[in-house]
Amino acid sequence: MQRREFITIAAAGSAVLIGGLFIPKFLRGKKPESRINPEFHPDVEIELTAHPSEVPILGNPPTRVWKYSAKLIRGPKNTIQELEGTYLGPVFRFKKGQKVRIIFYNNIPDKTIVHWHGLHVPQEADGHPRFVIRKGQKYVYEFEVKNRAGTYWFHPHPHGRTGPQVYMGMAGLLLVTDEEESSLKLPEGDNDIPIVIQDKTFDNRNQLVYLTGGMMERMTGFLGEQVLVNGQPDFTLQVSTSVYRLRVLNGSNSRIYKLAWSNGRPLTVIGTDGGLLERPVTKRYIMLGPAERVDLWVDFSDYSVGDELILKSLPFSGASTGGMGGMMGRRMGRRKRRRVPGNGEELNIMKVKIAGKTEAKRTILPRRLSNPGFHRPEDAINRNSPRTFRFAMERMRPTINGRTFQMTGVAGDEIVKLNTLEVWELINSSGGMGMMGGMMQMPHPVHIHGLQFQVLERTPSSGWETIKDGFIDNGWKDTVLLMPGMRVKVLLKFEDYTGLFLYHCHNLEHEDLGMMRNYLVKA
Ligand code: C2O
Ligand code: CU
Ligand code: CU
Repeated sequence: MQRREFITIAAAGSAVLIGGLFIPKFLRGKKPESRINPEFHPDVEIELTAHPSEVPILGNPPTRVWKYSAKLIRGPKNTIQELEGTYLGPVFRFKKGQKVRIIFYNNIPDKTIVHWHGLHVPQEADGHPRFVIRKGQKYVYEFEVKNRAGTYWFHPHPHGRTGPQVYMGMAGLLLVTDEEESSLKLPEGDNDIPIVIQDKTFDNRNQLVYLTGGMMERMTGFLGEQVLVNGQPDFTLQVSTSVYRLRVLNGSNSRIYKLAWSNGRPLTVIGTDGGLLERPVTKRYIMLGPAERVDLWVDFSDYSVGDELILKSLPFSGASTGGMGGMMGRRMGRRKRRRVPGNGEELNIMKVKIAGKTEAKRTILPRRLSNPGFHRPEDAINRNSPRTFRFAMERMRPTINGRTFQMTGVAGDEIVKLNTLEVWELINSSGGMGMMGGMMQMPHPVHIHGLQFQVLERTPSSGWETIKDGFIDNGWKDTVLLMPGMRVKVLLKFEDYTGLFLYHCHNLEHEDLGMMRNYLVKA
């Protein structure tokens, strides 16, 4: 199995094995370091470093991780918020319109590059894997923040190595504010809380364990034994009897969550991947695939001090990775030999404890949050003949329209024109009757770089009855969860920047196996 697995990967990515790491061929050539543009005058300048570190996630001994640390060189003091006691990177706070320069230093023993997930930036600033740098090199990002206020994030994007690097700890939140949002007086400061949900597995020496189950585990995606929130196990959020904004990111490699409160209260959603909704929406539960974000408004003012509730992930069906992850993930030498919960099994995510009383005046949920500025589907150049993209497992390889990733390759049907509006139909063709069909019910959280899109249509899928009320399809999105058999039509506008951008499955193991392609925006 070991050997066959290597051969498959080598064939897929044209890779060589160096020191236990798969290094794609082209990376072995020399590449100049990127440089500062003296014509670019930044409002914000940051030095960001990826480096090895140790964090006592489970106490002692500490866990070896890779993490991002940042230093502010220029700009408002609140631009960088370091989070204490976690492997997660700092939180960046940018204002729309700011010009940002980030000088990234790679200090990990692996090739890497940083991607600003959800941001609309030029291709050179998008963290494409063709721009990876080696240890000791730097990469300069320069861009203007053009996105709406919202919850974005950053993470590594080297081809074939994104899964392990994110898993080792490299990820951070990037929050954008704008005037429209500020005028709403949403909860801020201590009442604006990041909630990054991830799942990890530790060995009996508290070290991270990644992919021990061979090819099958890669095919389903990594599932961890336990849930961490903001890098901490058994996380408890202490709140007071007031109103909070929770910025929830699913930062997991492949686990999907069905978020709900243990006491049955509905969740109030104010934003999605690309910022605030037009109006708040209430949901009994929310489906959140890898890389998706949801902004919640939570009012604890009618709770009493001492009350507790749990943010859960409710059971759902449609992802038949259940037993498989559990079976494959087991290994000798594990901490407690916990069972790995399958994708769709019930989980506790965090506890919320009402710890104090606040007498401050009550914050009122605005009836109207924003003007999303949506496009009209009838203006699309291909309204009735969408481009189709099929995400499928073919001969044990995850593919898009039958293809896998090529570093700079684009096919004819992956070329679009600048300033056009298009409809794309994303199709999850897993779960069919093929050889592996029944067994491989694989969700694909599909992400498109460089822009935010609108969801026009979503068809039912496997497990539909257990998930159907959990999608928020009336906000800007950059990642959309496709359950097995599902088709989703999205509306995209290619604006401002020409060049090569990625689209891929954000199940990071699928992405690393090549379920990723370029699209080219041409003038
Ligand atoms: Cu969050 Cu191409 O990735
Ligand atoms: Cu992205
Ligand atoms: Cu996938």
